[in-house]
Amino acid sequence: MKHVLPFFFSILLCVTAIHGVSGDGTSIVFTTLGRLDYAFDIFTLPTHGHPPTISDELQITDGESVNFNGHFPSPSSTPALLSLLPNQSLIQSLLRTDPPPLQLVYVTERDGLSNLYYDVVFPESASSRTARRRSALEFSDRVQVPLLGKELIQNKISMKDRPNLAGDHLVYISTHENTGEPRTSWAAVYSTELKSGATRRLTPYGVADFSPSVSPSGKWTAAASYGAKGWDGEVEELSTDIYVFLTRDGTQRVKVVEHGGWPCWADESTIYFHRRGEDQWWSIYRAILPVNGVVSVESVVVERVTQPGLHAFTPATSSGNKKIIAVATRRPDTDFRHVELFDLDKNEFVELTRRVSPRAHHLNPFFSPDSGRVGYHKCRGDGNGKKSPKLFLQNIHSPVSDISLFRIDGSFPSVSPDNDRIAYINFPGLYVVNLDGSNWREVYFGNAFSTVWNPVRRGVIYTGAGPEFAPVSAEVDIISVNVEDPKKTVVKKLTTNGKNNAFPSPSPDGKRIVFRSGQTGFKNLYIMDAEEGEKGGLQRLTEGPWTDTMCNWSPDGEWIAFASDRHNPGAGSFELYLIHPNGTGLRKLVESGSGGRTNHPWFNPDGKKVAFTSDYAGISAEPISNPHHYQPYGEIFTVYLDGSDVRRLTHNSYEDGTPVWVPKFIRPVDVEWRFGRPVCQFEDLHWLSDMPKPSSRDTPGPVYVGSNKAQCGARL
Ligand SMILES: *[C@@H]1O[C@H](CO)[C@@H](O)[C@H](O)[C@H]1NC(C)=O
Ligand SMILES: *[C@@H]1O[C@H](CO)[C@@H](O)[C@H](O)[C@H]1NC(C)=O
Repeated sequence: MKHVLPFFFSILLCVTAIHGVSGDGTSIVFTTLGRLDYAFDIFTLPTHGHPPTISDELQITDGESVNFNGHFPSPSSTPALLSLLPNQSLIQSLLRTDPPPLQLVYVTERDGLSNLYYDVVFPESASSRTARRRSALEFSDRVQVPLLGKELIQNKISMKDRPNLAGDHLVYISTHENTGEPRTSWAAVYSTELKSGATRRLTPYGVADFSPSVSPSGKWTAAASYGAKGWDGEVEELSTDIYVFLTRDGTQRVKVVEHGGWPCWADESTIYFHRRGEDQWWSIYRAILPVNGVVSVESVVVERVTQPGLHAFTPATSSGNKKIIAVATRRPDTDFRHVELFDLDKNEFVELTRRVSPRAHHLNPFFSPDSGRVGYHKCRGDGNGKKSPKLFLQNIHSPVSDISLFRIDGSFPSVSPDNDRIAYINFPGLYVVNLDGSNWREVYFGNAFSTVWNPVRRGVIYTGAGPEFAPVSAEVDIISVNVEDPKKTVVKKLTTNGKNNAFPSPSPDGKRIVFRSGQTGFKNLYIMDAEEGEKGGLQRLTEGPWTDTMCNWSPDGEWIAFASDRHNPGAGSFELYLIHPNGTGLRKLVESGSGGRTNHPWFNPDGKKVAFTSDYAGISAEPISNPHHYQPYGEIFTVYLDGSDVRRLTHNSYEDGTPVWVPKFIRPVDVEWRFGRPVCQFEDLHWLSDMPKPSSRDTPGPVYVGSNKAQCGARL
């Protein structure tokens, strides 16, 4: 039965697309682990009337792009939010609606930008109770307002995260300020007055803050912070402490908890947070602050709330009901992350989302102020193909005006010299497809990585064929794959030493190939003939008991850029170096502080700059708030050949890697295609699957309420 709407409007105060990219710009294509599979939307379930069923679940966000890390504003913020709407009679209509509309603030990545949005969505009306479950997509009455102005969105490209409201101020994370220090996070808390857009940084310079939470009165903000300690390369639990400061201006900042993250206020003197305890279980803890007097770590009482036996993290509180919190969990008997309630009086978990969609990950819960609803994000499934087409190339808004930026649905991309085709890997297999997504075909069936085109011989692609991340002794060979004749692909093996050979890159005349080889026991660089391979002559370019790899030959032929750990062999740190093809002129191009990682260099078309992936900007969000990323710090950067002007191009909490500079400019628009892996196939954090062994010291596990049998209605 069609829902009859009290109103019919859909206001979208859209950020107009200003790309500012001139025709003589350049383009970079890169890969992001998992991101194109996410399709996150924000959903909600009621917290009462258990057990919930699939018909109780409501999708709030609209199925565009990814939408996540929601926040239900409290009534004290509603006037300020409503005042953003352009039309007084619209506001009056909204206020009269019964039941009242749902209001949500959340992060969205639509239009290739990270932004914070405010949506007003009508829940089912009394007249449509028969149609029990309604997806927000079925409502055409939705009001949608981007919360940050052009200045903060387009001129200061950054990741936005964890929105909170404090009266008429939006408090959130942004990464738009360069710390100026390699290997430090750019994440900091900002506060923006909704009406005027006036923005103030609340985090002191020299410090990184994550996961902010505003106290119920709005007076205080808590955040997980590195303080002066800084990031040490960790990708599981961040070694943050919890700090509290005045929301007004960031002053009176004081450390309240040593070791903790994801703070959440229950009242003005109680903060819930998570921590991986000494027994290795992630658990929820409570910090009780003294009501009066100077607050310091010593004056705060910390109690463990959830016990060993399951991982519980990312807590959420409700001012409406202080006896429950919401958490995400990983239990030993499931590979999926679920949202549960935890009854603080009874010390009992109440499973919520596992009853509704047991085989989906549910992330980062949040409560409505009256505690009647818990929200979270999960993958919406394949159902919204029209709104969210499968993208071959996703245009990402670039902070550098003459570089257009694309995330590709594949790994190790490279673009043909004529700018008409892309080669890429989809483990296993090498594929070639036109730039517009047409003419797709698989050209090599085995496992391969790092593709590159011969700049002169049309249709010739080089790759390393064999296992990736393998030791020096593994057999990986450089092969050439000639794809020019669509009926007859010619594959030729170029290396003969039987060791680990990979990352080929041809000279600009197409006659020679630089590559890395493990043939003498260490991975060093060699140059061979591009047609005859090793048989046609081998020149050793670098030599030493370390790893030189990921080489790229400059378009003017003068330089070969590569990544190496020669400064500290085997320690896992990589820096970028330059060397002339004749073996002279070796010098360091860029490093990411001491112990950092810079990888996958690739020259721009005029050979003056190099794109690379690095941990140069530390980590941008607590990794536990995301699906699995091996290297959640990975972002794309560029640097001039003299090491100057390091520019950050991507801002997110995902793993971005393998940037390639494209021979010619690509117009900054999305390219759709009919393929794409099935969405929602991403994995939860691999390291969360390592459940600690039960120890005799552990107290008995928590009581589980509800069975795990709710399979029917599982959608994912
Ligand atoms: C204001 O909103 C109402 C719907 O409530 C609509 O009928 C009216 O046309 C809108 N006015 C303007 C100027 O947009
Ligand atoms: C090596 O190559 C560089 C760059 O092409 C050149 O400037 C230099 O003279 C060469 N050195 C030798 C010894 O050939």
